[in-house]
Amino acid sequence: MKDQPNLFVFDTMEQVALAAAERFVDYSIASIREHGSFAVALAGGSTPRSAYELLGANEFKSRIDWPLVHLFFGDERMVPADSAESNYRMVNDSLISRVEIPPGNVHRIICESTQSESAELYEAELKRFFQSVDWPRFDLVLLGMGADGHTASLFRGSDALKEEEKWVIATRQPQTGKDRITLSLPVINHATRVAFVVTGNEKAATLARVWSSEQANEESPAQRVRPVNGILEWLVDRAAASKL
Ligand code: 6PG
Repeated sequence: MKDQPNLFVFDTMEQVALAAAERFVDYSIASIREHGSFAVALAGGSTPRSAYELLGANEFKSRIDWPLVHLFFGDERMVPADSAESNYRMVNDSLISRVEIPPGNVHRIICESTQSESAELYEAELKRFFQSVDWPRFDLVLLGMGADGHTASLFRGSDALKEEEKWVIATRQPQTGKDRITLSLPVINHATRVAFVVTGNEKAATLARVWSSEQANEESPAQRVRPVNGILEWLVDRAAASKL
């Protein structure tokens, strides 16, 4: 990887979750001090759940000024909010339902209409919040990485990776064919801070590939995450880092 972003290797996935929760607190304090709010796009999947559960526990939630926090989603599956597959449901169960965040500060990707309407509605929500700027500037984007190198719902070989205008894109999970909604790569790359949380042996080969610049021509979506004016951190456990 060209510019070596910050790689932090922790012994266990629990320590990765702790590090992610600590960064969430620290970045929320810094962002609120800088401009009065903290806008974060959360990752879906299973890895970040432990971090969200920590943030919803007393030790962490009391350190966060929730009325000034705005939760967004990096991507969503086109399923109802109460579906076991829903990223919103995972975040609601682990975090939102356990903290005093105003309902208007939770910006769910509405998936109860058509996929194109869902993408348009979410883009409109982002444009309302970030006002009329070229690109929204999230204070933090949390990301996971699939064993195939995807991130958010940006999958290898997808036209979505070429998007240079839209903030939100309708995509599809290539293996299952299931519809997804995702932030576009430019939105992710305009964030002030981007943090990957990656754990487990099954990610080790992909993480090694992502970090070996000679593979640049086969860039995986995760490798395309390079903040234009922000910091990029990788929070990984020893198992995921075992082939680095
Ligand atoms: C999703 C996520 C996706 C996830 C990776 C890793 O909706 O599934 O946004 O990009 O971060 O697939 O998932 P795990 O953390 O479950 O390995």
